[in-house]
Amino acid sequence: MPELTSVVELEGVSFAYRAGVRVLEDVSFEVSAGEFVAIAGPNGGGKTTLLRLVLGLERPTTGTVRVFGQVGGKSVDGARIGYLPQRARVVGEAPVTVREVVSTGRLTSAGIWGPLRRSDREAVARAIETVGLSDRADSPLRTLSGGMQQRALIAKALASEPTLLALDEPTTGVDAESQDSLGVLLEELRTQFGVTILYVSHEFGAVEHVVDRIVLVRGGIVYDGPPSGLPGVWHDPSHTHA
Ligand SMILES: Nc1ncnc2c1ncn2[C@@H]1O[C@H](COP(=O)(O)OP(=O)(O)OP(=O)(O)O)[C@@H](O)[C@H]1O
Ligand SMILES: [Mg+2]
Repeated sequence: MPELTSVVELEGVSFAYRAGVRVLEDVSFEVSAGEFVAIAGPNGGGKTTLLRLVLGLERPTTGTVRVFGQVGGKSVDGARIGYLPQRARVVGEAPVTVREVVSTGRLTSAGIWGPLRRSDREAVARAIETVGLSDRADSPLRTLSGGMQQRALIAKALASEPTLLALDEPTTGVDAESQDSLGVLLEELRTQFGVTILYVSHEFGAVEHVVDRIVLVRGGIVYDGPPSGLPGVWHDPSHTHA
């Protein structure tokens, strides 16, 4: 893939789920290749919506969204996107294993039921190892704790070896130690592979020291800059935004 400076580019984006009720107003921002950007803000501020616009899951009411230089989700060679949706629903009673779930993050043109090649199987095993679940790889997901299930879903987002990784509240239900190891992992992905990371959270203590930028979303972008310049209240770990 040619070197791209701009991986994500939003220009004057507004969005409403229902006519007349704008959730995001005039959002413009740009994320460069290899940047690690935290997206923070209160409940209902529009963080998930912003991510969905970036991923092409929603279309802007006005304005333009470009990802890897393309408008409207056209595919770009070598551009892979890993996505962890917020509170991803864990497969209820089905006896699906960690490895099977992570494999669905590695779909080939043959689709979900097509055979995975050896390189796919290796990437799946690497993703599982990365989140520290190798010894549980063949366990049914429902036998794992909530935090381990969340780690399995993070592995699924990593399985495609993404160039853009979008994580929506990845630390929900994950204990402090695993949050720290996720922080370390993301930093490695960034420095070793130049992965561009969008990390949505209310609570980014585990990554605050490694993110380049924080974007604060409350119906629009109310702050975009280094963590050190954030309005004070966002530094207070005891502050909740519920
Ligand atoms: N599918 C939908 N249909 C209609 N309204 C929606 C939908 N999804 C979100 N909204 C509304 O859009 C606004 C922004 O929601 P969004 O989920 O983007 O916020 P958020 O910042 O991710 O919040 P949280 O911190 O709770 O995850 C909220 O008022 C929400 O009620
Ligand atoms: Mg959200």
